[in-house]
Amino acid sequence: MADQFSAAIRWHGDYLELLDQRKLPAEEQWLPCHSSEQVSDAIRQMVVRGAPAIGISAAYGIALAARALGERASLAALAADFDALAASRPTAVNLFWALDSMRRCGQSLSGNALVEALSAHACHIHADDVARNRAIGTHGAALLPVGKAVYTHCNTGALATGGHGTALGIIRSAHEQGTLAHVYAGETRPWLQGARLTAWELQRDGIPVTLVVDSCAGHLMARGDVGAVIVGADRITANGDTANKIGTYGLAVLARHHGIPFIVAAPCSTIDLSLASGDAIAIEERDSAEITALAGQPVAAPGVDAFNPAFDVTPASLVTAIVTERGVIREPDDRALGEHMRD
Ligand code: MRU
Repeated sequence: MADQFSAAIRWHGDYLELLDQRKLPAEEQWLPCHSSEQVSDAIRQMVVRGAPAIGISAAYGIALAARALGERASLAALAADFDALAASRPTAVNLFWALDSMRRCGQSLSGNALVEALSAHACHIHADDVARNRAIGTHGAALLPVGKAVYTHCNTGALATGGHGTALGIIRSAHEQGTLAHVYAGETRPWLQGARLTAWELQRDGIPVTLVVDSCAGHLMARGDVGAVIVGADRITANGDTANKIGTYGLAVLARHHGIPFIVAAPCSTIDLSLASGDAIAIEERDSAEITALAGQPVAAPGVDAFNPAFDVTPASLVTAIVTERGVIREPDDRALGEHMRD
């Protein structure tokens, strides 16, 4: 499998290992998972995070559950595992996409034949995601401004996917081609995926990166320091509305105000044509303790009310282009997405 650098998911045939992203960059600790319950917990607790990586992990979770059943394996016997994995996080559609794909692959099989088919299919979903990201990188690199910095949010790299990354994959591909000037990484409160993960990944790849607090984005754009904003997605609806890490919408508004292209990168497995618009996307709300404390230390008055949505929705009207493995959708809307997704 390509791009094993800092890839966060390792399949060993009879168990799964996840790089514990809660501990990065201080420690590189791998968490072994031997059951689908352990995988659901790892997704819920953000040991593994990022839309494609969540989907891949869930697929391996089903493979583990099937192995445990052996000759008794059937889709009916796996129903509770499918349900528990589906309930682990609500917003990233890649989770549901991967589970559906596993279910389809297992149709009409049972016993050891099903076990083998599900293991092979999980590996296929994993390898296929890397290939999709490579293609996204190639299509997207051509869109980045030559000689000007790009601004990115959250972590969309090898850690968030099967490898290479989506928005960060484009940044990696542009760097490989020698056209990337610089990257600004927003720290991404409250989990600090930008500070802990993106800056770490880029630094290890020798890609020039400057870390900024989220509230610095407008200042950088006003100074003329940003040539494009590039982000990933957790779910893109039929009209091109895009759910992504909280703070993405604000960046899109800022980019429009400053006349800067706002680019979304995601595999087609992130596109959900079953939802008409972003209003229908379930937005995960996480524990308020994630914002009232930092690394276990309280940073707010005890008992203060706090609101902690993990994602927001950027309307398609603010998106300059969506890049998938199939190519570039400019000025996304129902028609453009429908055409792009046609088989
Ligand atoms: O809460 P997270 O860390 O799972 O959120 C991740 C994001 O919002 C990413 O931008 C998105 O999943 C795309 S990852 C290629």
